[in-house]
Formats: sequence, structure tokens, C-alpha cells
Amino acid sequence: MDKQADIKRISDLRKVIEYHNKRYYQQDAPEISDAEYDHLMRELQDLENRYPETFSPASPTQRVGTVPLAKFASFNHPSPMLSLANAFTSEEIIEFDNRLKRLAGVDHISYIAEPKLDGLAVNLIYENGIFKKGATRGDGTTGEDVTQNLKTISSLPLKIKPFSKSPIPSFVEIRGEVYIEKEPFEKLNIRRIKDGEEPFANPRNAAAGSLRQLDSRITARRPLNIFLYGIGNVIGIDFSTHGKVLQILAGWGFPVNKLIEQAQDIDACLQYFERIGTKRKSLPYEIDGIVLKVDNLSMQKTLGNISRNPRWALACKFPAAQETTTVKDIIVGVGRMGTLTPVAIMAPVNVGGVMVSRATLHNEDEVIKKDIRVGDTVIIQRAGDVIPEVVKVIMEKRTGREKKFKMPSQCPECGSEIVRFEGEVAHRCVNISCPAQLKEHIRHFASRNAMDIEGLGEKVSAQLFDAKLIADPADLYFLTKDQLVALDRQAEKSAQNLIKAIAKSKNPPLDKFIYALGIRHVGERTAKLLADHFGIMENLVAAKQEDLMEINEIGPEIAAAIVEFFHEQKNINVIKKFAKAGVQPQKKESAVNSPLQGKSFVFTGTMESMGRNEAKTLVENLGGIIHSSVTKSTNFVVAGSEPGSKLDKAKSSGIKIISEDEFLKLINR
Ligand code: IVH
Repeated sequence: MDKQADIKRISDLRKVIEYHNKRYYQQDAPEISDAEYDHLMRELQDLENRYPETFSPASPTQRVGTVPLAKFASFNHPSPMLSLANAFTSEEIIEFDNRLKRLAGVDHISYIAEPKLDGLAVNLIYENGIFKKGATRGDGTTGEDVTQNLKTISSLPLKIKPFSKSPIPSFVEIRGEVYIEKEPFEKLNIRRIKDGEEPFANPRNAAAGSLRQLDSRITARRPLNIFLYGIGNVIGIDFSTHGKVLQILAGWGFPVNKLIEQAQDIDACLQYFERIGTKRKSLPYEIDGIVLKVDNLSMQKTLGNISRNPRWALACKFPAAQETTTVKDIIVGVGRMGTLTPVAIMAPVNVGGVMVSRATLHNEDEVIKKDIRVGDTVIIQRAGDVIPEVVKVIMEKRTGREKKFKMPSQCPECGSEIVRFEGEVAHRCVNISCPAQLKEHIRHFASRNAMDIEGLGEKVSAQLFDAKLIADPADLYFLTKDQLVALDRQAEKSAQNLIKAIAKSKNPPLDKFIYALGIRHVGERTAKLLADHFGIMENLVAAKQEDLMEINEIGPEIAAAIVEFFHEQKNINVIKKFAKAGVQPQKKESAVNSPLQGKSFVFTGTMESMGRNEAKTLVENLGGIIHSSVTKSTNFVVAGSEPGSKLDKAKSSGIKIISEDEFLKLINR
């Protein structure tokens, strides 16, 4: 074999692949098919494997994995990823500054003012300057390990570039936002529509959807970008100000937003808020406000956190984007619980970067209160991710020909009687077999925060239902590719993809499954509490009202709704059908009968098998509590290697000391 020729081929292939990446995304003019692209990638990968000396961190192969993952591993953030308190007015911003000055006992605070990027937060781990792992924020404590996908972002350095005299830390968590610019977002959507795929609602959803692909080759072809704006735990370098952190991040080669400024006082912050607000539309990426951060890091530390928000930072949100349009019609949608929702159909307008043609009118009372009629000129608004809504009618534009809205007395879908229960604002269709409700139920089941079945949105759910291929969510798992191909619009490839996506959802986390069932009053948070408490589906199904009410935060109304749901034979049949199809939610460490329930733990020394954060999550999931110091009420001290003075304190106070192995046995590991 001619080594020289192979090495030349490696260098050519790298260039060719870079070129096609550009054609596809920056110019929206691909010249080759996905299969041809994959073929080039594979050839390059093979050659690089044969000649390891040609390794280069800049090669496209280093940024893209070759095998799709079965699922994302979960990732415990070494230090929690907090969120931000919001402010909407200058008064609130000034109040924030006054509060901090009072708490810190100073009469002046200097801030760093940053644009608030509308993407999704990630945490990146660098060890000795090398990118090791990256994860989504998740619930702030645990996220998803999306390392492979983050590597595909070409502006993200895989290695920290040495910078002036600042040492490279042995460990650092770097935080930032992954986003997609407005223009590439539009192109991506055009391409998706051409390929018969559902377009993304906004750049943020597109970024999140792209980063959460199990196949990093798909992520690699999405125009993702990143800005870094902070650090978490760090070992090996000390910083005194946040401004310095940003300066060093930029020096190390990380993309740091150029609009970030030092603001000497709160007045400068208010001016910055104004200035960035006027620039917003012309920026190539979406922002939804600014973030103010106390510059001095020791002051940040003194101020600390209040629940999940740092006291030292504030998100100042821009007012919701508003536009004027006309109401063409008011239709009535039937939701999952049979709720009738009036929806305004409007002449399409661009509101803050998103085309809007529908706005929820919530309920009849709202329509009457705002006096919205068909033919009216209205002001609508959209704030962040919120569904667009009508702010008010421009009465001066009334001609007298507008038509008043009336709630139908029969369900627009099934013709059944509509009722309005005592004390409720909503009108409901009470027919539990109403097709609109069932379709909505299936759509909810498949949605991102529930079973996350890609490709099963509103249209496809309705199509499957109308074709009588499914009557409930469990039927999804019995669908065949041939059945799908026989439906209109379902091409061979998308049918195959849908079958795959359905099969992939067979082992969901228990809380997602519970949420997906669509039990009245059971949102994501309650589903999580139920999963943590009961551990397996069977325990939840058998739970009595009083068992449910043992859980903090679950009151009689929610408990009754859950019991009622599992008393309904139809629902039990669907659950049995899931089991028959092999749908098996993952077990959770149950808090019921857990030996850890209510027990307090103190850890000392290093554990072999897991980090502190992981141990903490496990103990808490099992109903235990973690304390940092030994007191009379401590139940167990877990001693790892090289334990500290806590061990002596435990010995002298006669508190039970267990080894790491004993701890693992206790939690059934
Ligand atoms: S700092 C403790 N800086 O906003 C500090 N966040 O509402 C937490 N975000 O989850 C984050 N731009 O996704 C920070 N310049 C910025 C940001 C920013 C956007 C997002 C981030 C975070 C959310 C908090």
C-alpha cells in the first residue's frame, strides 16, 4: 500500500468534508447526499485508524462519533447549575442593586452585563486542558452526557490554548449556552420542510433538538454554536473577578460574547439594558434579555444562593414582543382532558422572529372579558417560549361588521354535550371516547418531555388515529412499517424512522412514563415525586389515597385523581397492553421501605466507586438526608479512604460508622 498516497488522501478528505459541511449549512446548497457524506466520513475514519500518527484534533472525525448511542448517560454536575431570578422593569433592577448593597454592607457594586442568550445551558469539563465531558443542564443537579455532540461544534476548543501567564487548571467546569443563529435556523427549517419533516418552532428548540440527537453525525450537520459565560468548580487557578474569568476564557480560545461589558454601577446596567434592547433585532442570534452579575467573586460568595438562584445575578427580560394583526376566525380545540379552548386564527405576522398565526384565547370568560370578535384588529404578544396570546382589541378599528364568539353547546369533534362544571372556567366535552381527546392524548404521550418519540407530532398522531391504526398510546408499540407506508405522506424512510423511534422509547425513565399517561393534575414535577416514591409502576397502581398523600406536595385532590385513574378498567387495560408490548419503565430506587428513609448521613474521605454528588443523589432518592458535619442526630458516618476529623468525632460520639462497601450494600448496589 502506498502510505504517502494514503496520507495525502487523509488531508484531501478532511478538506472535502469541511467543504461539504459548509455547502450544507452555511450556503444551504448541498452537493452530495447524506449517504455519500457518510461514506466519505467512513473512509477518512478508516484511514486515520490505519495511520494513528496522522491524528489531528482538527479532523472532522474527532468531532463526530461513528456509532449512535442507545441512550444518553446521566451526568451529575460537580457543582449545581443554578438558574436566574427574573426582573422586567427598571424598578426591579434598582431594587436588586439596593438589596445586594444592603446584604453585602457596601455602598457601591460593580457588575458585568451580558446578553441573555436564548439557547440551552451546558456544562463542560476540562481536565488538564483537555475537553473530557459535556452535559446539558437537566434539573441543575443531573443532566445528560452529550459529549459526542458537543464535540461537533467547531467553535468549541477540544484543548485549552495556553494564554499569557495563566496556568491551565487541572480541573474546570466551564458553563455556556449552545444556540443556533437566526439565518441558519431559517435554512434548517426550509430543508426540513422540503424533506417532509416538522419544522422547529424557534432557534432554541432547534438547538436543543440538535444537541439531543443520539447519532452525533446528525448533530454534526446542524449549525450549532456556543458562547461560554462562566465557570463552576475549578482546581489550579484563582480568579478574583468575573470579568477576569471571561477574559481568560477568551484567551484560552473559548467563544465569549463580544457584547459583554463591565458596568461600573446600576445606572450603567440600566443603560446597557436599553442599548442591547435596541440592538436586539439586528443581532444574528436570539436574546431575550440581559444578565447582570456581581463582578467581585468574593462578594458573590458572601451573597450566596437563595434556593436555586444565585443572589448575585439577575436576568433582566425584555418586554414581550408585540405585533398587530387581524382575527380571521375563532375555532375551538378539544384538549386531552376534554377542555374546550377557543383559538384565534389570525393573518400571519412575525412576532419577535417567529411567524404566528394562532393565539390561544384560553376560555370563554377571557374572550368575553377582552371582547374579542372575528374581524377585530388585535395586538398579540409572545414572550419567550410562551404560546402567543391576544393582549387587547384595537377598538378604534371596529367597523361594526365584527362577529361575536359563542362557545358551542356540542363538541366540535364528536357532537357530545358540552358542560361547564360548577366553579370551573373551562367548558368540557365529557365523552371519554371523544376522538379529539384521544388524539391529543396520544400527542401528549409522544411529546418531548414525556416519551420523547421523534416524528410523532400532532399531525402523525391524528393520522394514525383517523386511519384506525391506533386507539390508545399502547397501540403504537404494535405498529408495523408496512402499515405506516400504506398511509399517505409516510415515505418508506420516515416510516422506518418512526418505527425505530417508537421502539427506542420502550425503556423510559419511570417519571416520564407516569407523566406520559396523562393523569389529571399529574404534571412533570408530580410525576417525578411519584416515581421517586414508588420506584416501580406496580406500586403506584396499587397505591391508596392515603399512601399518595404521604408524599410531601401531594394533596387530596391530586391523590384522588391518581386513584381514580387507576380504578378505571380501560386505563388498566392500556397499562397491561404496554407490558405486553415490552414497554418497561426503568426502576427507580424506591423510597418506600427504604432503609435510608429519614436517615441522615455524613461522608468523610474519598469513595472509590462514586463521587460525592452521585452519593448525595442516591441517598436523597432513597429518602435519606446528607449533612456536612457530624451532630447528635447523625445516623451514619460513611468513611472512605483517608477520612478526616469527622471520623474521630463520630467515634467519640458513638455514631455508627460504615465503610464504603457497607454503604453500597445498604443502597443495594
Ligand atoms: S449565567 C448562576 N449568563 O439563562 C448563573 N445564563 O435563567 C446561571 N443564559 O440556564 C447562568 N445567557 O441557559 C448566564 N449570559 C448568561 C446567559 C445565561 C443565557 C441562560 C442559561 C441559564 C438561564 C438561567
